[in-house]
Amino acid sequence: MASEQQTSQDGGGVATAEQAQDTLTVTDNRTGRSYELEITDGTVRGMDLRQIKVSEDDFGLMSYDPAFTNTASCRSAITYIDGETGILQHRGYPIEQLCEQSSYVEVAYLLVFGELPTKAQLDRWVYDITHHTYVHENIKKFVEGFRYDAHPMGMLLASVGALSTFYPDAKQIDDPEERYMAAIRMIAKMPTLAAFAYRHNLGLPYIYPDNDLSYSENFLSMLYKMTAVKYEPDPRLARALDVLFILHADHEQNCSTNAVRSVGSSQVDPYSAVAAGVAALYGPLHGGANEAVLRMLRRIEKPENIPDFLEGVKKREERLMGFGHRVYKNYDPRARIIKKHVDEVLEATGDNPLLDIAVELEKRALDDEYFTERKLYPNVDFYSGLIYEALRIPADMFTVIFAIPRTSGWVAQWMELNEDSEQKIARPRQIYTGERDRDYVAIGDREGPEKITGPPARRPPRPRRGA
Ligand code: SDX
Repeated sequence: MASEQQTSQDGGGVATAEQAQDTLTVTDNRTGRSYELEITDGTVRGMDLRQIKVSEDDFGLMSYDPAFTNTASCRSAITYIDGETGILQHRGYPIEQLCEQSSYVEVAYLLVFGELPTKAQLDRWVYDITHHTYVHENIKKFVEGFRYDAHPMGMLLASVGALSTFYPDAKQIDDPEERYMAAIRMIAKMPTLAAFAYRHNLGLPYIYPDNDLSYSENFLSMLYKMTAVKYEPDPRLARALDVLFILHADHEQNCSTNAVRSVGSSQVDPYSAVAAGVAALYGPLHGGANEAVLRMLRRIEKPENIPDFLEGVKKREERLMGFGHRVYKNYDPRARIIKKHVDEVLEATGDNPLLDIAVELEKRALDDEYFTERKLYPNVDFYSGLIYEALRIPADMFTVIFAIPRTSGWVAQWMELNEDSEQKIARPRQIYTGERDRDYVAIGDREGPEKITGPPARRPPRPRRGA
């Protein structure tokens, strides 16, 4: 808690070592009063600001942080990121070691339960996931209702939300068995829903899960199996996909995870909370960036067009998709790992001229101070699309592929939210900038255009005070 104290107007000097405490002393120059705010884990509690008032009936201070650029919304033990040095660890294990030695389903277990599983635990986890890959047959009818060219992320978004209607008991979010089953069902069924969306776009019959295959092999089978009795996945491609699944599994409080936590804080069922995550991931600034990178590389078309393209970025005519990150102000460690796998996959599937453009584009951007000054480096989305393309996955399926593994991260974060006694329903405050106390005006007395020539113009936001 903060404590209010009267200090002399001249404030204090720098505290000596023995005086140094984990507190922040702030002086409100409007009143001359000083307050001592506790510093815990590098943060001050927002609510400690509320007692800084100019009068008894003053609401008190709030912090203003649009897009939460400097606000910790929770305590979490799942993923650690050091953006300055490019470190990513899940439950303390470096992403590089997990990609080298683990599998996606094992990493999903690690994210959810916090420890690497024993063989018995992993066998049971894999058995449960494998035996929940089917979806209710009604889902097929549901998917049939979409246009043939519906974006697969829109279909996935709707299908995940619809799952909540098939498992009404998932509303009992405090029941550990229901929570476990919801985790298993979402991790297991996401590839099936994704593959159904893909097959619907192509007008192909749905392929049912094959329990003899691994998680990634089964997904390739549901995407590509045609007349063969059994789909024979290329182990190199299945492994590359599994590594991509590991790399996309969780990433602390990103936009979509924040959406899952915010919606989940209302105590809605986990399927509806994860559907909110799918919706957030759909955006081009987030999970939709991998699809946007491929379209950008195709638009650049050849390496000699790169200088003009980068000039356009600097003139803010467009963004260098796949570059930049809210947290990483260094090379995204995932991009480094993916780039290594691109070479291996293209060895199996044949060269892709877009890779030459991507490599040259990265080189020129990293030689250009416009990008290095802004600490813009390749992120997870810059190279991943090249692997998906090599796997013959169409660009509008890229974000769907991102959503599949991120489901284990969303589920782990949702569980942590529900076990955190400090959490309650998310309900931020605001700075009100609108009108006050206006009297109603009868329609005949209102001013405005007699003739409507298009959508009404939105009133411009009021300039910020001091802007
Ligand atoms: C993911 O959060 C996560 O962890 C996300 C993710 C995950 O695993 O969940 O890592 C996955 O979403 C990766 C990011 C994928 N998005 C893209 O690649 C889209 C392109 N990148 C950006 O739009 C942008 O970099 C963001 C959205 C990723 C981050 O934006 P920020 O932190 O809000 O940064 P900003 O927009 O304030 O940019 C700071 C400056 C600005 O320049 P100035 O106005 O200060 O002059 O950098 C510029 C921006 O204009 N800038 C870019 C740029 N990204 C930022 N300029 C050109 N191209 C870009 N890509």
